[in-house]
Amino acid sequence: MLAEVESRVSSPVLVGRSGQLSALDTALAEAVRGSPSAVMVGGEAGVGKSRLVSEFAERSRGAGVRVLMGGCLELGADGLPFAPFTAVIRALVRDLGAAGVAGLLPGGSARELARLLPEFGEPADPDEAGEARARLFEQALILLERLAEAGPVVLVIEDMHWADRSSRDLLAFLIRNQPSAEGLLMVVTYRTDDLHHAHPLRPLLAELDRIGWVTRMDLGRLTRPDTGQLVAQIIGHGPDEDLLAAVYGRTEGNPLFVEALLADGGLGSGLPESLRDLLVAAVRRLPDETQEVVRVASAGGERTGDRLLAAVTGLEGPALARALRPAVAANVLLADSDGYAFRHALIREAVHDELLPGERGQVHRRFAEAIAADPALVMPGRAAGEQSYHWYAAHDSTRALVSAWQAAGQAGRSLAYAEQLAMLSRVLELWQQVPDATQRIGADHVAVLEQSVRVAELAGENDRGVTLAQAALREIDADAEPVRAALLLGAGGQLKYHLGRADYADDLREAVRLVPADPPSPARARVLQALAHRTLHERGSGDAALRAIAEEAVVTARRAGDAATEAVALVTLACAEPIGGNVERIQALLAQARAVASRAGANEPFLTAAIAESETLEFAGMHEPAATVAREGLAAAGKYGLARTYGAVLAGSLAEPLLSLGRWDEANEIIEGALQLFPLRLDRTYLWRLAGDIALARGDLVAAAESVASIKSVLDHTRYQSQYHLPLIRLESQVWLTQGGRAEALSVIQDALDRFDVRQSPRYAWPLLIVGARACVAAAAPDGSLPPKAGALLGRLRAEAGKLAAEGLAQQAHRLTFAADAARAAGPLAATAPGELPQPGDMRAAWEEAAQAWEAAGEPYPLAVALMRSAEAALGAGDREGGATPLRRAAELAQRLGARPLSDDIARLARRARITLGQPGEAAEAQAAPGRAGQAQVTEPERLGLTTRELEVLRLVAAGRSNREIASELFISIKTASVHVSNILGKLGVTSRGEAAATAHRLRLFDSFPQ
Ligand SMILES: Nc1ncnc2c1ncn2[C@@H]1O[C@H](COP(=O)(O)OP(=O)(O)O)[C@@H](O)[C@H]1O
Ligand SMILES: [Mg+2]
Repeated sequence: MLAEVESRVSSPVLVGRSGQLSALDTALAEAVRGSPSAVMVGGEAGVGKSRLVSEFAERSRGAGVRVLMGGCLELGADGLPFAPFTAVIRALVRDLGAAGVAGLLPGGSARELARLLPEFGEPADPDEAGEARARLFEQALILLERLAEAGPVVLVIEDMHWADRSSRDLLAFLIRNQPSAEGLLMVVTYRTDDLHHAHPLRPLLAELDRIGWVTRMDLGRLTRPDTGQLVAQIIGHGPDEDLLAAVYGRTEGNPLFVEALLADGGLGSGLPESLRDLLVAAVRRLPDETQEVVRVASAGGERTGDRLLAAVTGLEGPALARALRPAVAANVLLADSDGYAFRHALIREAVHDELLPGERGQVHRRFAEAIAADPALVMPGRAAGEQSYHWYAAHDSTRALVSAWQAAGQAGRSLAYAEQLAMLSRVLELWQQVPDATQRIGADHVAVLEQSVRVAELAGENDRGVTLAQAALREIDADAEPVRAALLLGAGGQLKYHLGRADYADDLREAVRLVPADPPSPARARVLQALAHRTLHERGSGDAALRAIAEEAVVTARRAGDAATEAVALVTLACAEPIGGNVERIQALLAQARAVASRAGANEPFLTAAIAESETLEFAGMHEPAATVAREGLAAAGKYGLARTYGAVLAGSLAEPLLSLGRWDEANEIIEGALQLFPLRLDRTYLWRLAGDIALARGDLVAAAESVASIKSVLDHTRYQSQYHLPLIRLESQVWLTQGGRAEALSVIQDALDRFDVRQSPRYAWPLLIVGARACVAAAAPDGSLPPKAGALLGRLRAEAGKLAAEGLAQQAHRLTFAADAARAAGPLAATAPGELPQPGDMRAAWEEAAQAWEAAGEPYPLAVALMRSAEAALGAGDREGGATPLRRAAELAQRLGARPLSDDIARLARRARITLGQPGEAAEAQAAPGRAGQAQVTEPERLGLTTRELEVLRLVAAGRSNREIASELFISIKTASVHVSNILGKLGVTSRGEAAATAHRLRLFDSFPQ
């Protein structure tokens, strides 16, 4: 049917897809205008994702846009971590030179990028592994930022479904932080037909979907008319109805299959070939010699360099080119300057599947041998990974093991821990088949296991780490090598703790038992410190045994000359001080810890001390100093490159006092900034809880309930200490109460009292008891079965409160509030909860006392609640005047906090009592509330509606700082910084940062806002 037509293999023009192209153009225009934009292009194999993207890339390049492209490889785990990004940077280096690329980075150093590209030299040994990875991500982002500053940039990452985990992590990081790279468009393609339900790309896509600037583009098959056009472009004239019907019927508009079907020419045969067979058929039509080379190439992956292919086939340059020319002409392979690529991965897969088992092993062996003989045949840094892949496929266990070991080392240097672990697992898998494995890699089986335990921890694979540690311990004779066994037990114990497993402490105790006390050794100091630290988390402070262990850890570390461990142990010792212990003594121990840490250059204990000090101060109700210490710690964490780990905890330590002080917007920004960095799971729960508290107080019940659900998903089935659980339970019961779930609230609290010894943590117990009392008030309505339950609970709460310590201003205020709330519940529950009944005057006095305490503690929100209740009591006693003043003050406070539900309660009470709120004159009185000075006249910033935060941001804008710099200076996310900046531009009525700076200076905006 097609015999007489001179036909091409594929269409020279892009058919259809005009809608998609213009969507991409729009996305680019948006990015150029400064709004972040990312497009996820999904579709089945062969549907035209690459074609669409390359067409878009072409026209963008034509318009002066820099286009960077990288593709993921099918061999993801085999030592090719970060493959698409490596390709992008390599292309950049070709373009700008290594020095040109390094010149774009801070300090002109591409030190971290060297992990991706050996061309940049040997990377420094990662000091703190998690840290180096954060820096690598950061450098990649900065590189894109700098490029985008010079002009629009499109970054295309193809075939994301094959990506290794490291690439997925980096992609997610880049997309989230896109607001800092103005003028950058990200385009990602992935195959939808390969995404089985457990595919690791799925959760990433779901996560990205929640980001405002990410859009999905589902690329469907061509329509019938477009298929007709495609056929016409290929065969040179419009197809007749029969031909089109046949082609469309068979291919349903998948362009790759249209091409294959037309090339096959066998339309009339009616043979029920599968489409895959069609792809192979195109290869079978090639001359024998060509087929042979194509089959060999199929083992090399999607793309093979011509020197490598020459080495493997034994055909030198011109002969190879001659052999492959028909394959290029038939569009099976594409030739570029230094290699050949299959036109489509499906063709490669089909050809490779056709290789006979023995033949396949042979071909892979030839690849492996060629690369072993000349590693320069593959990209720098890839030789070990590629060899490991080929030796494994060739079933050569010995060499597969050796090269997997080398590839693991390479992956470790690239900070690709998941891939490193995969390679180490391969070493372990092959171990039995290689009798002299120990000699070959210079490490014994236990050593490989030990390394795997460490890497598993770095990769966050805690379960696997525990299994590996146990396997290693089974092979160790603890009597002969007690220290080795102890360190494994220690590592396993830590991992178990991360998993929330109860038996972690046994491991740690056994580790301490194993390491001899004499002579004092760093190993002993370390296991002692680990045990002390975990015991602290388990039993809380004030425990005598704990203190003894911590002291021994300090002394041992000092004698062994291990300053870093000594510093950490000092922090543990400070935390072991009894609850409400002497704040000065704790601060003194922490100062000592910091001094030792500084001397040893140990960043982590330094930050741990800051966390502990801020905690101590917040515990004592000293919110301002707590915030100051945390803020300094946060800055140090950023400087040490530990923003994601220690910084996240410190962000919580900062947000918590801010929350107490009623600086909720600031707290929210800090929380959001920290969450952007993907902190560890447990640290996230702390941040979520604080965000949930603010959301609830502001009436965003959905967000509060979401926080509860997120925290639960982490904490459930674990036995983390009450520090995490009590605040969660408190928030959860508040959410229930707000939703009207009185019975649920009661039982959640009841259950908490059964499960936890709340006396160990007054700081978290008091708020819980208060909510418990409020739940009793709510449940007292005599309309059901709840009052008896509530009565019982109230008795229990009072009993606990009677035994609970109350140290510091905040806890004392909590205690008074509890007393007042319990009294409020007592009347209605009199029948079921016998006890003293409060007199009307008592209630008012109780709330006034609580209000004074909150005033002293500087916490406006509970102050407003107490004021409202005292007003309520006064009004109940008929003292209208006496109720009006506190009620107005409460209204003003609640309003300023944006605490809508509380404002509503106050307004309802005011209406009932016919009190008008917010009269002029009252405002001035309220201005004198904590944390804000009275202001006589309207300042220029106020006239423009600029908030204090915005002025702060504006000052940085005027100083020429970028969004990223502003974000890091203020500890907020880049997104928040950019939102501030655009709000400021709007309020000033200007369109650029330069204009904003000029306006700020012209209006002398900073005069009223001292530095
Ligand atoms: N819209 C189109 N117009 C013309 N040819 C197309 C079109 N879409 C895809 N093709 C061709 O079909 C083949 C498969 O497309 P490709 O982009 O590689 O698919 P994918 O990347 O989705 O797997 C390629 O040869 C490509 O040139
Ligand atoms: Mg493709």
